[in-house]
Amino acid sequence: MSLNMKKIVMPILFVFFVLGSIFYFAPSLFFDEPLRADISLKPDDQGLVDLGKLVYKNNCASCHGVNLEGQEQWRQPDADGYMPAPPHDESGHTWHHPDEYLFLMTKYGLEEIIGQEYPNNMPAYNNLLSDQEIVAALSYIKSRWSIKVRLQHDKINTMSKEQR
Ligand code: HEC
Repeated sequence: MSLNMKKIVMPILFVFFVLGSIFYFAPSLFFDEPLRADISLKPDDQGLVDLGKLVYKNNCASCHGVNLEGQEQWRQPDADGYMPAPPHDESGHTWHHPDEYLFLMTKYGLEEIIGQEYPNNMPAYNNLLSDQEIVAALSYIKSRWSIKVRLQHDKINTMSKEQR
């Protein structure tokens, strides 16, 4: 390599090297890291379920129903084009989702989870409830399902952990 070529090529290589290192060691500067939460619902923990019942009553019942029944006609968009709040009892699809999804969705909201704009009426509870309160509310919800559905939901959790 001629001296002139070196003067051009070396700095370019150096820049690539620096960028490559940053990319390798701090990928989060380039990509949104997928949201993760290492939590498990505990429907058999009576203390937690009692707390969750209170949290649910004060924060969720107004939309999802005092008895987890959801809003009327919840499968159809309302007049503004938004989906009504679905039930959290067995007639809804809450139990189709693993713990982690339910937690993250309650904490950060739906748009954050699916990674795209999706106007909807579900508030994010990030700044309103602690992680423990969110886990408690969801544990309370799970405690209201039949044993059969709870076991089904345990399986969904196992499968979703295996897919990681
Ligand atoms: C202002 C009304 C409102 C309140 C209050 C509310 N939600 Fe929701 N929630 C909704 C709506 C509406 C949806 C459906 C969003 C959609 O799919 O467009 C929803 C969806 C959900 C889902 C997803 C269910 C599924 O099957 O996909 C979970 C989980 C959830 N809410 C948990 C909670 C919890 C826990 C609380 C209380 C801490 C709460 N929500 C408070 C309106 C509300």
